[in-house]
Amino acid sequence: MTGELGWVPPEIDTTVPNPARVYDFWLDGDHNFAADRALGEQILKIMPGVRDAARLNRAFLRRAARFMVDSGVRQFLDIGSGIPTVGNLHEIVQQADPSCRVVYVDREPVAVAHSELLLQDNESCLVLQADLRDVDDIFDGAGKLLDLEQPVGLFMLLLLHFVPDSWDPMGVLARYRDRLAPGSFLAVTHVAADSGTERLDEAIEVYMSRQGRQNQPVPRTHDEVLAFFDGFEVVEPGVVGCAMWRPEGAGDMSDDPAINSLPYAGIGRKP
Ligand SMILES: C[S@@+](CC[C@H](N)C(=O)[O-])C[C@H]1O[C@@H](n2cnc3c(N)ncnc32)[C@H](O)[C@@H]1O
Repeated sequence: MTGELGWVPPEIDTTVPNPARVYDFWLDGDHNFAADRALGEQILKIMPGVRDAARLNRAFLRRAARFMVDSGVRQFLDIGSGIPTVGNLHEIVQQADPSCRVVYVDREPVAVAHSELLLQDNESCLVLQADLRDVDDIFDGAGKLLDLEQPVGLFMLLLLHFVPDSWDPMGVLARYRDRLAPGSFLAVTHVAADSGTERLDEAIEVYMSRQGRQNQPVPRTHDEVLAFFDGFEVVEPGVVGCAMWRPEGAGDMSDDPAINSLPYAGIGRKP
């Protein structure tokens, strides 16, 4: 299903698969095209657990958002937010407290177009189209809705593995950290290089062969993901397999231990 096609910007080449829409397909969303589904299916044949990994990542999003609300945060910045699907950040936090404000950022026009459509009547949400490296533009835009003197919950879920080392991800993260007020939180999930998931390299090879060079995933080890929290105090239980971050029930886990650890997850607090 491609849903109503009114949300597809005319400049989009829907014959080239795109990470946001392939991920939407794995989550059973309806904002993907034949090319996205073909690639999604091809990867599922190599690594059937990837669909579960996407679901576990969304479950972590829910727990992380609630944790931040419980810690007093009422404003959120979600970078690489993707195509809205069930259980979006604003739904989770505004259910906990309707005064919560959320800024969504993605560089992918379809994700932005659909987010704008979904949120057009929600005055507590804003959508920006930007690359995560446009830190100043993002904070300028976010500042129209958020009080940047107050703590912010910054989400970067399944995003940083699209950032090659040549972009200096540590440097980019330091720029975010420097702009955040003390008491802010950073939540990260990231494809693990060392989870023991079988055929991950093969799946990535197929993924890369079908997409533009700008979307090549770079899995990283536990220590490399932990290093992204430089300058933050990592909250318990640390950087762990996504399913092991304070699971609340069986639905937050997979039967396959490798899939439970395929995305690493962690939350850090800026002192
Ligand atoms: C796998 S999706 C994750 C969506 C959502 N964060 C989640 O975890 O459910 C990755 C998203 O990151 C976006 N993305 C990738 N590289 C980006 C960049 N350099 N700047 C902004 N967004 C980016 C993609 O367009 C895509 O929507």
